Amino acid sequence: MSSSSTFLLLFFILLLSSSSFSLSANVDNDHTLKTYVVKVHYDAKPSIFPTHKHWYESSLSSSTSLIHTYDTVFHGFSARLTSSEAQQLKTLPHIIALIPEQVRHLHTTRSPQFLGLKTSDSAGLLKESDFGSDLVIAVIDTGIWPERQSFNDRDLGPVPAKWKGQCVTAKDFPSSSCNRKVIGARFFCQGYESTNGKMNETSEFRSPRDSDGHGTHTASIVAGRYVFPASTLGYARGLASGMAPKARLSVYKVCWNAGCYDSDILAAFDSAVSDGVDVVSLSVGGVVVPYYLDAIAIGAFGASDHGVFVSASAGNGGPGGLTVTNVAPWVTSVGAGTIDRDFPADVHLGNGKIVPGVSVYGGPGLGGPEKKYSLVYAGSEEGDGYSASLCLEGSLDPKYVEGKLVLCDRGINSRAAKGEVVKKAGGIGMILANGVFDGEGLVADCHLLPATAVGASGGDEIRKYISDAEKAKSPAIATIVFKGTRVNVKPAPVVASFSARGPNPESPEILKPDVIAPGLNILAAWPDKVGTIWGSF
Ligand SMILES: *[C@@H]1O[C@H](CO)[C@@H](O)[C@H](O)[C@H]1NC(C)=O
Repeated sequence: MSSSSTFLLLFFILLLSSSSFSLSANVDNDHTLKTYVVKVHYDAKPSIFPTHKHWYESSLSSSTSLIHTYDTVFHGFSARLTSSEAQQLKTLPHIIALIPEQVRHLHTTRSPQFLGLKTSDSAGLLKESDFGSDLVIAVIDTGIWPERQSFNDRDLGPVPAKWKGQCVTAKDFPSSSCNRKVIGARFFCQGYESTNGKMNETSEFRSPRDSDGHGTHTASIVAGRYVFPASTLGYARGLASGMAPKARLSVYKVCWNAGCYDSDILAAFDSAVSDGVDVVSLSVGGVVVPYYLDAIAIGAFGASDHGVFVSASAGNGGPGGLTVTNVAPWVTSVGAGTIDRDFPADVHLGNGKIVPGVSVYGGPGLGGPEKKYSLVYAGSEEGDGYSASLCLEGSLDPKYVEGKLVLCDRGINSRAAKGEVVKKAGGIGMILANGVFDGEGLVADCHLLPATAVGASGGDEIRKYISDAEKAKSPAIATIVFKGTRVNVKPAPVVASFSARGPNPESPEILKPDVIAPGLNILAAWPDKVGTIWGSF
């Protein structure tokens, strides 16, 4: 008796656990929606369906709606599906592939760009091509701030006759936003909103207008008009222009506050090619996946097939190896290099040593090299040394840093934010040191207080000076000497340290990035009311 009741009990537990197991698996299957990009045999549409859209809808349940349909660089649609719906769809004969959507991110740190800024005189190729006058360039990014001088259409000829694109309007993007320079503007947010819900229209524009800055910056670097005088806080003063100053721009906004969604990116490619662009430029990327699962590679393949040149940023994951993205052989992957210009702002230590740094701080200086200030390392304060050394929000004790120059380490928060933390705590200036991983590569930032960036070895030297001075019970002192804009710097170009490196993780036999272009400390257009001009991480 006892053995049979044990058996029964055991059986019951087994039954219970197996049923609860399959129940929870079903719950997962039925309720988790994911966006898929679906490739179809385009020519297989039965004639009973008036359009491809009708046909696509017929393969989905009535509650599922299409996000986008694609019919130029790719044939198919995107939709949010449960995994069982996706499995079912895969069994239909006209479905070729289901590609799970990825979310991409902007490539750059607000500073660096993959195509450079060039000044007037070098003509040659530019002159022969009439500065790109007949060329239409699609910029797939965060939109545009069309009122910038870089986008004026003075003296430009009529819009090329082949153009079939559109300038969509909205209350913050009137029809006057387009002209003979910005000839097209569209936005794609259906993929973004089907994952994230409706966008917050207080913090971003439901229109091609740029609320981030990245798209305005890249568009003006690619094809901005000549702007004079241009400068950033007095640095890099001169005549600014994009690489093809007469080329026409068509803007496809696909990046929103939560990222850039594959289904929208593919719709932008589809639209750009059918609008009649000659070039697609994008500075967006994600993790590297096989080409057949990569919406950017797929969109770019269709575009190349239509004779459109596709240029994409290699990414900012350097200096480590295997960091390059956008690696498909039919995409030109562009890394970032320096130009022969920099913005020296050196640290003069109390022991006479000079540590080279860079900065585009534009306010009053600290006085000459003779006038020195107390110097502290944020991380040597008692307490939470780690977050203090990084100058994170609230980590600095005003008693410790007030009136002093503060050495902070790079990482976690943005470079400009560290400057704000030091300023708020009463510091008089900041020296920002690279970590071992950052190496010696420096980005010149716009800071709100006197500040400069130094390499990893410079940071070590300054830390050692501070700790030696402490041991000797003598005060550590230093200052920053700002030297403005220096040109004819040699050697140049040098690959920027943040620029992503090969080898190519998908096809190691194909070298990537293909080329580098000026991409460090580049002056270009920027929207109103958006953050600091060059810097972030
Ligand atoms: C929308 O964004 C604004 C500005 O950032 C913010 O104040 C507001 O709380 C946000 N609204 C919602 C519903 O998230």
